[in-house]
Amino acid sequence: MSGALTGIGVERFLDREVMAALARPLEQARGLPSAAFTDEAFLALERRLLFSRTWVFAGRAGDLAKPGDVRPVEVAGRPLLLVRGREGDIRAFHNVCPHRGARLVGEAQDGRTMLTCPYHAWTYTLDGRLKARPHFHRPDCHDQAGDDNVTLFPVRCVTWHDWIFVNLDGKAEPFEDFIAPVSAWFDGFDLSAVRCASHRAWEFDCNWKLAVENYCDFYHVFLVHPALHQVMAKEARKAMLTMGRHLMNEYWFEADNRGGLGDKSGFGMPLFPELSAANQNRTCYSVVFPNIAINVYPTNAQFVHFEPLSAGRTRMHMWFYYVGDAASDPAHASLRDTVVEEWHKLNMEDEGICRAIQAGRHCDAYDGGRLAPYWDTGTLHFHRQIAQVMTAA
Ligand code: FES
Ligand SMILES: [Fe+2]
Repeated sequence: MSGALTGIGVERFLDREVMAALARPLEQARGLPSAAFTDEAFLALERRLLFSRTWVFAGRAGDLAKPGDVRPVEVAGRPLLLVRGREGDIRAFHNVCPHRGARLVGEAQDGRTMLTCPYHAWTYTLDGRLKARPHFHRPDCHDQAGDDNVTLFPVRCVTWHDWIFVNLDGKAEPFEDFIAPVSAWFDGFDLSAVRCASHRAWEFDCNWKLAVENYCDFYHVFLVHPALHQVMAKEARKAMLTMGRHLMNEYWFEADNRGGLGDKSGFGMPLFPELSAANQNRTCYSVVFPNIAINVYPTNAQFVHFEPLSAGRTRMHMWFYYVGDAASDPAHASLRDTVVEEWHKLNMEDEGICRAIQAGRHCDAYDGGRLAPYWDTGTLHFHRQIAQVMTAA
């Protein structure tokens, strides 16, 4: 956060009038104001008052496959360190040495037994305890054990399936409570059965919130996604449901049209284990508040992270998961490629729309919009959750 921005309070953007407009019934409500999508100062506030206060994605457990694997990451603009310890557990720390504040780890490292600071070589165990301080007392007079309570600064961290979540301020609700509605929504799909096969990323010229909103907007399918419109039954398209802070949706295939979302359904690969007959014709979606989406199909899943790059630019990461060995079996390589390619086409169809909805937020006349009662329940809920978290005492 630049020094010039630190003094700006959230009330400059979310004043009483805005909060009152958000609280009105959907038909009369207004969404977040344009500046929430265009002003770098608002993104700086989001880093401090939204992403630091909630559970947010920090990395994939599969990316730290072995004990001693260490990954520097950035979360909410803060440098963090993910470490898989000797017992296989994953911890998160602020990526800073408690001595003089040097960044502890600059690049991904594998198989470490200790973490050593590049400035004066203070050395820490993988669980963050100080182990040694060379020349600490004077030249050639070392401190081997660490005779005070110096430790790395821990960050609250939970691994859920392949996904590592952190809570920077340490005050969010227990992770189990946070994720419970999402787990319940995917009940019947055993997420522990999937393996990550690949990662792709796309960048959009829009604020991260617009990318999230567009991602879960079924309304625009008829116009922006003609191929999807052809295969997706109109009567089965629904607005997002709200559960906890999250958003959910589902789509039921016709029983005789199991590829009901086109080739990205991935049929032909193994189904989730013990999938019920009903779930074999269902896909389910969730926006995990604030900036994650998870899609689950009968044969595959995607984990999506909307990474804010600036107020007006977002990188959308998508990791592709398949059931068990289908993630690596050469026999399924072309089906996996098809799934990814179909998502690429779909995301490219959204690229221009994302640019357009961002450009519109630069018009002074726009006041948060007129919301569509059938479709925009999820968008209003999303805006309300953001405002509520950011203005909490
Ligand atoms: S700053 Fe890390 S050892 Fe001095
Ligand atoms: Fe779209």
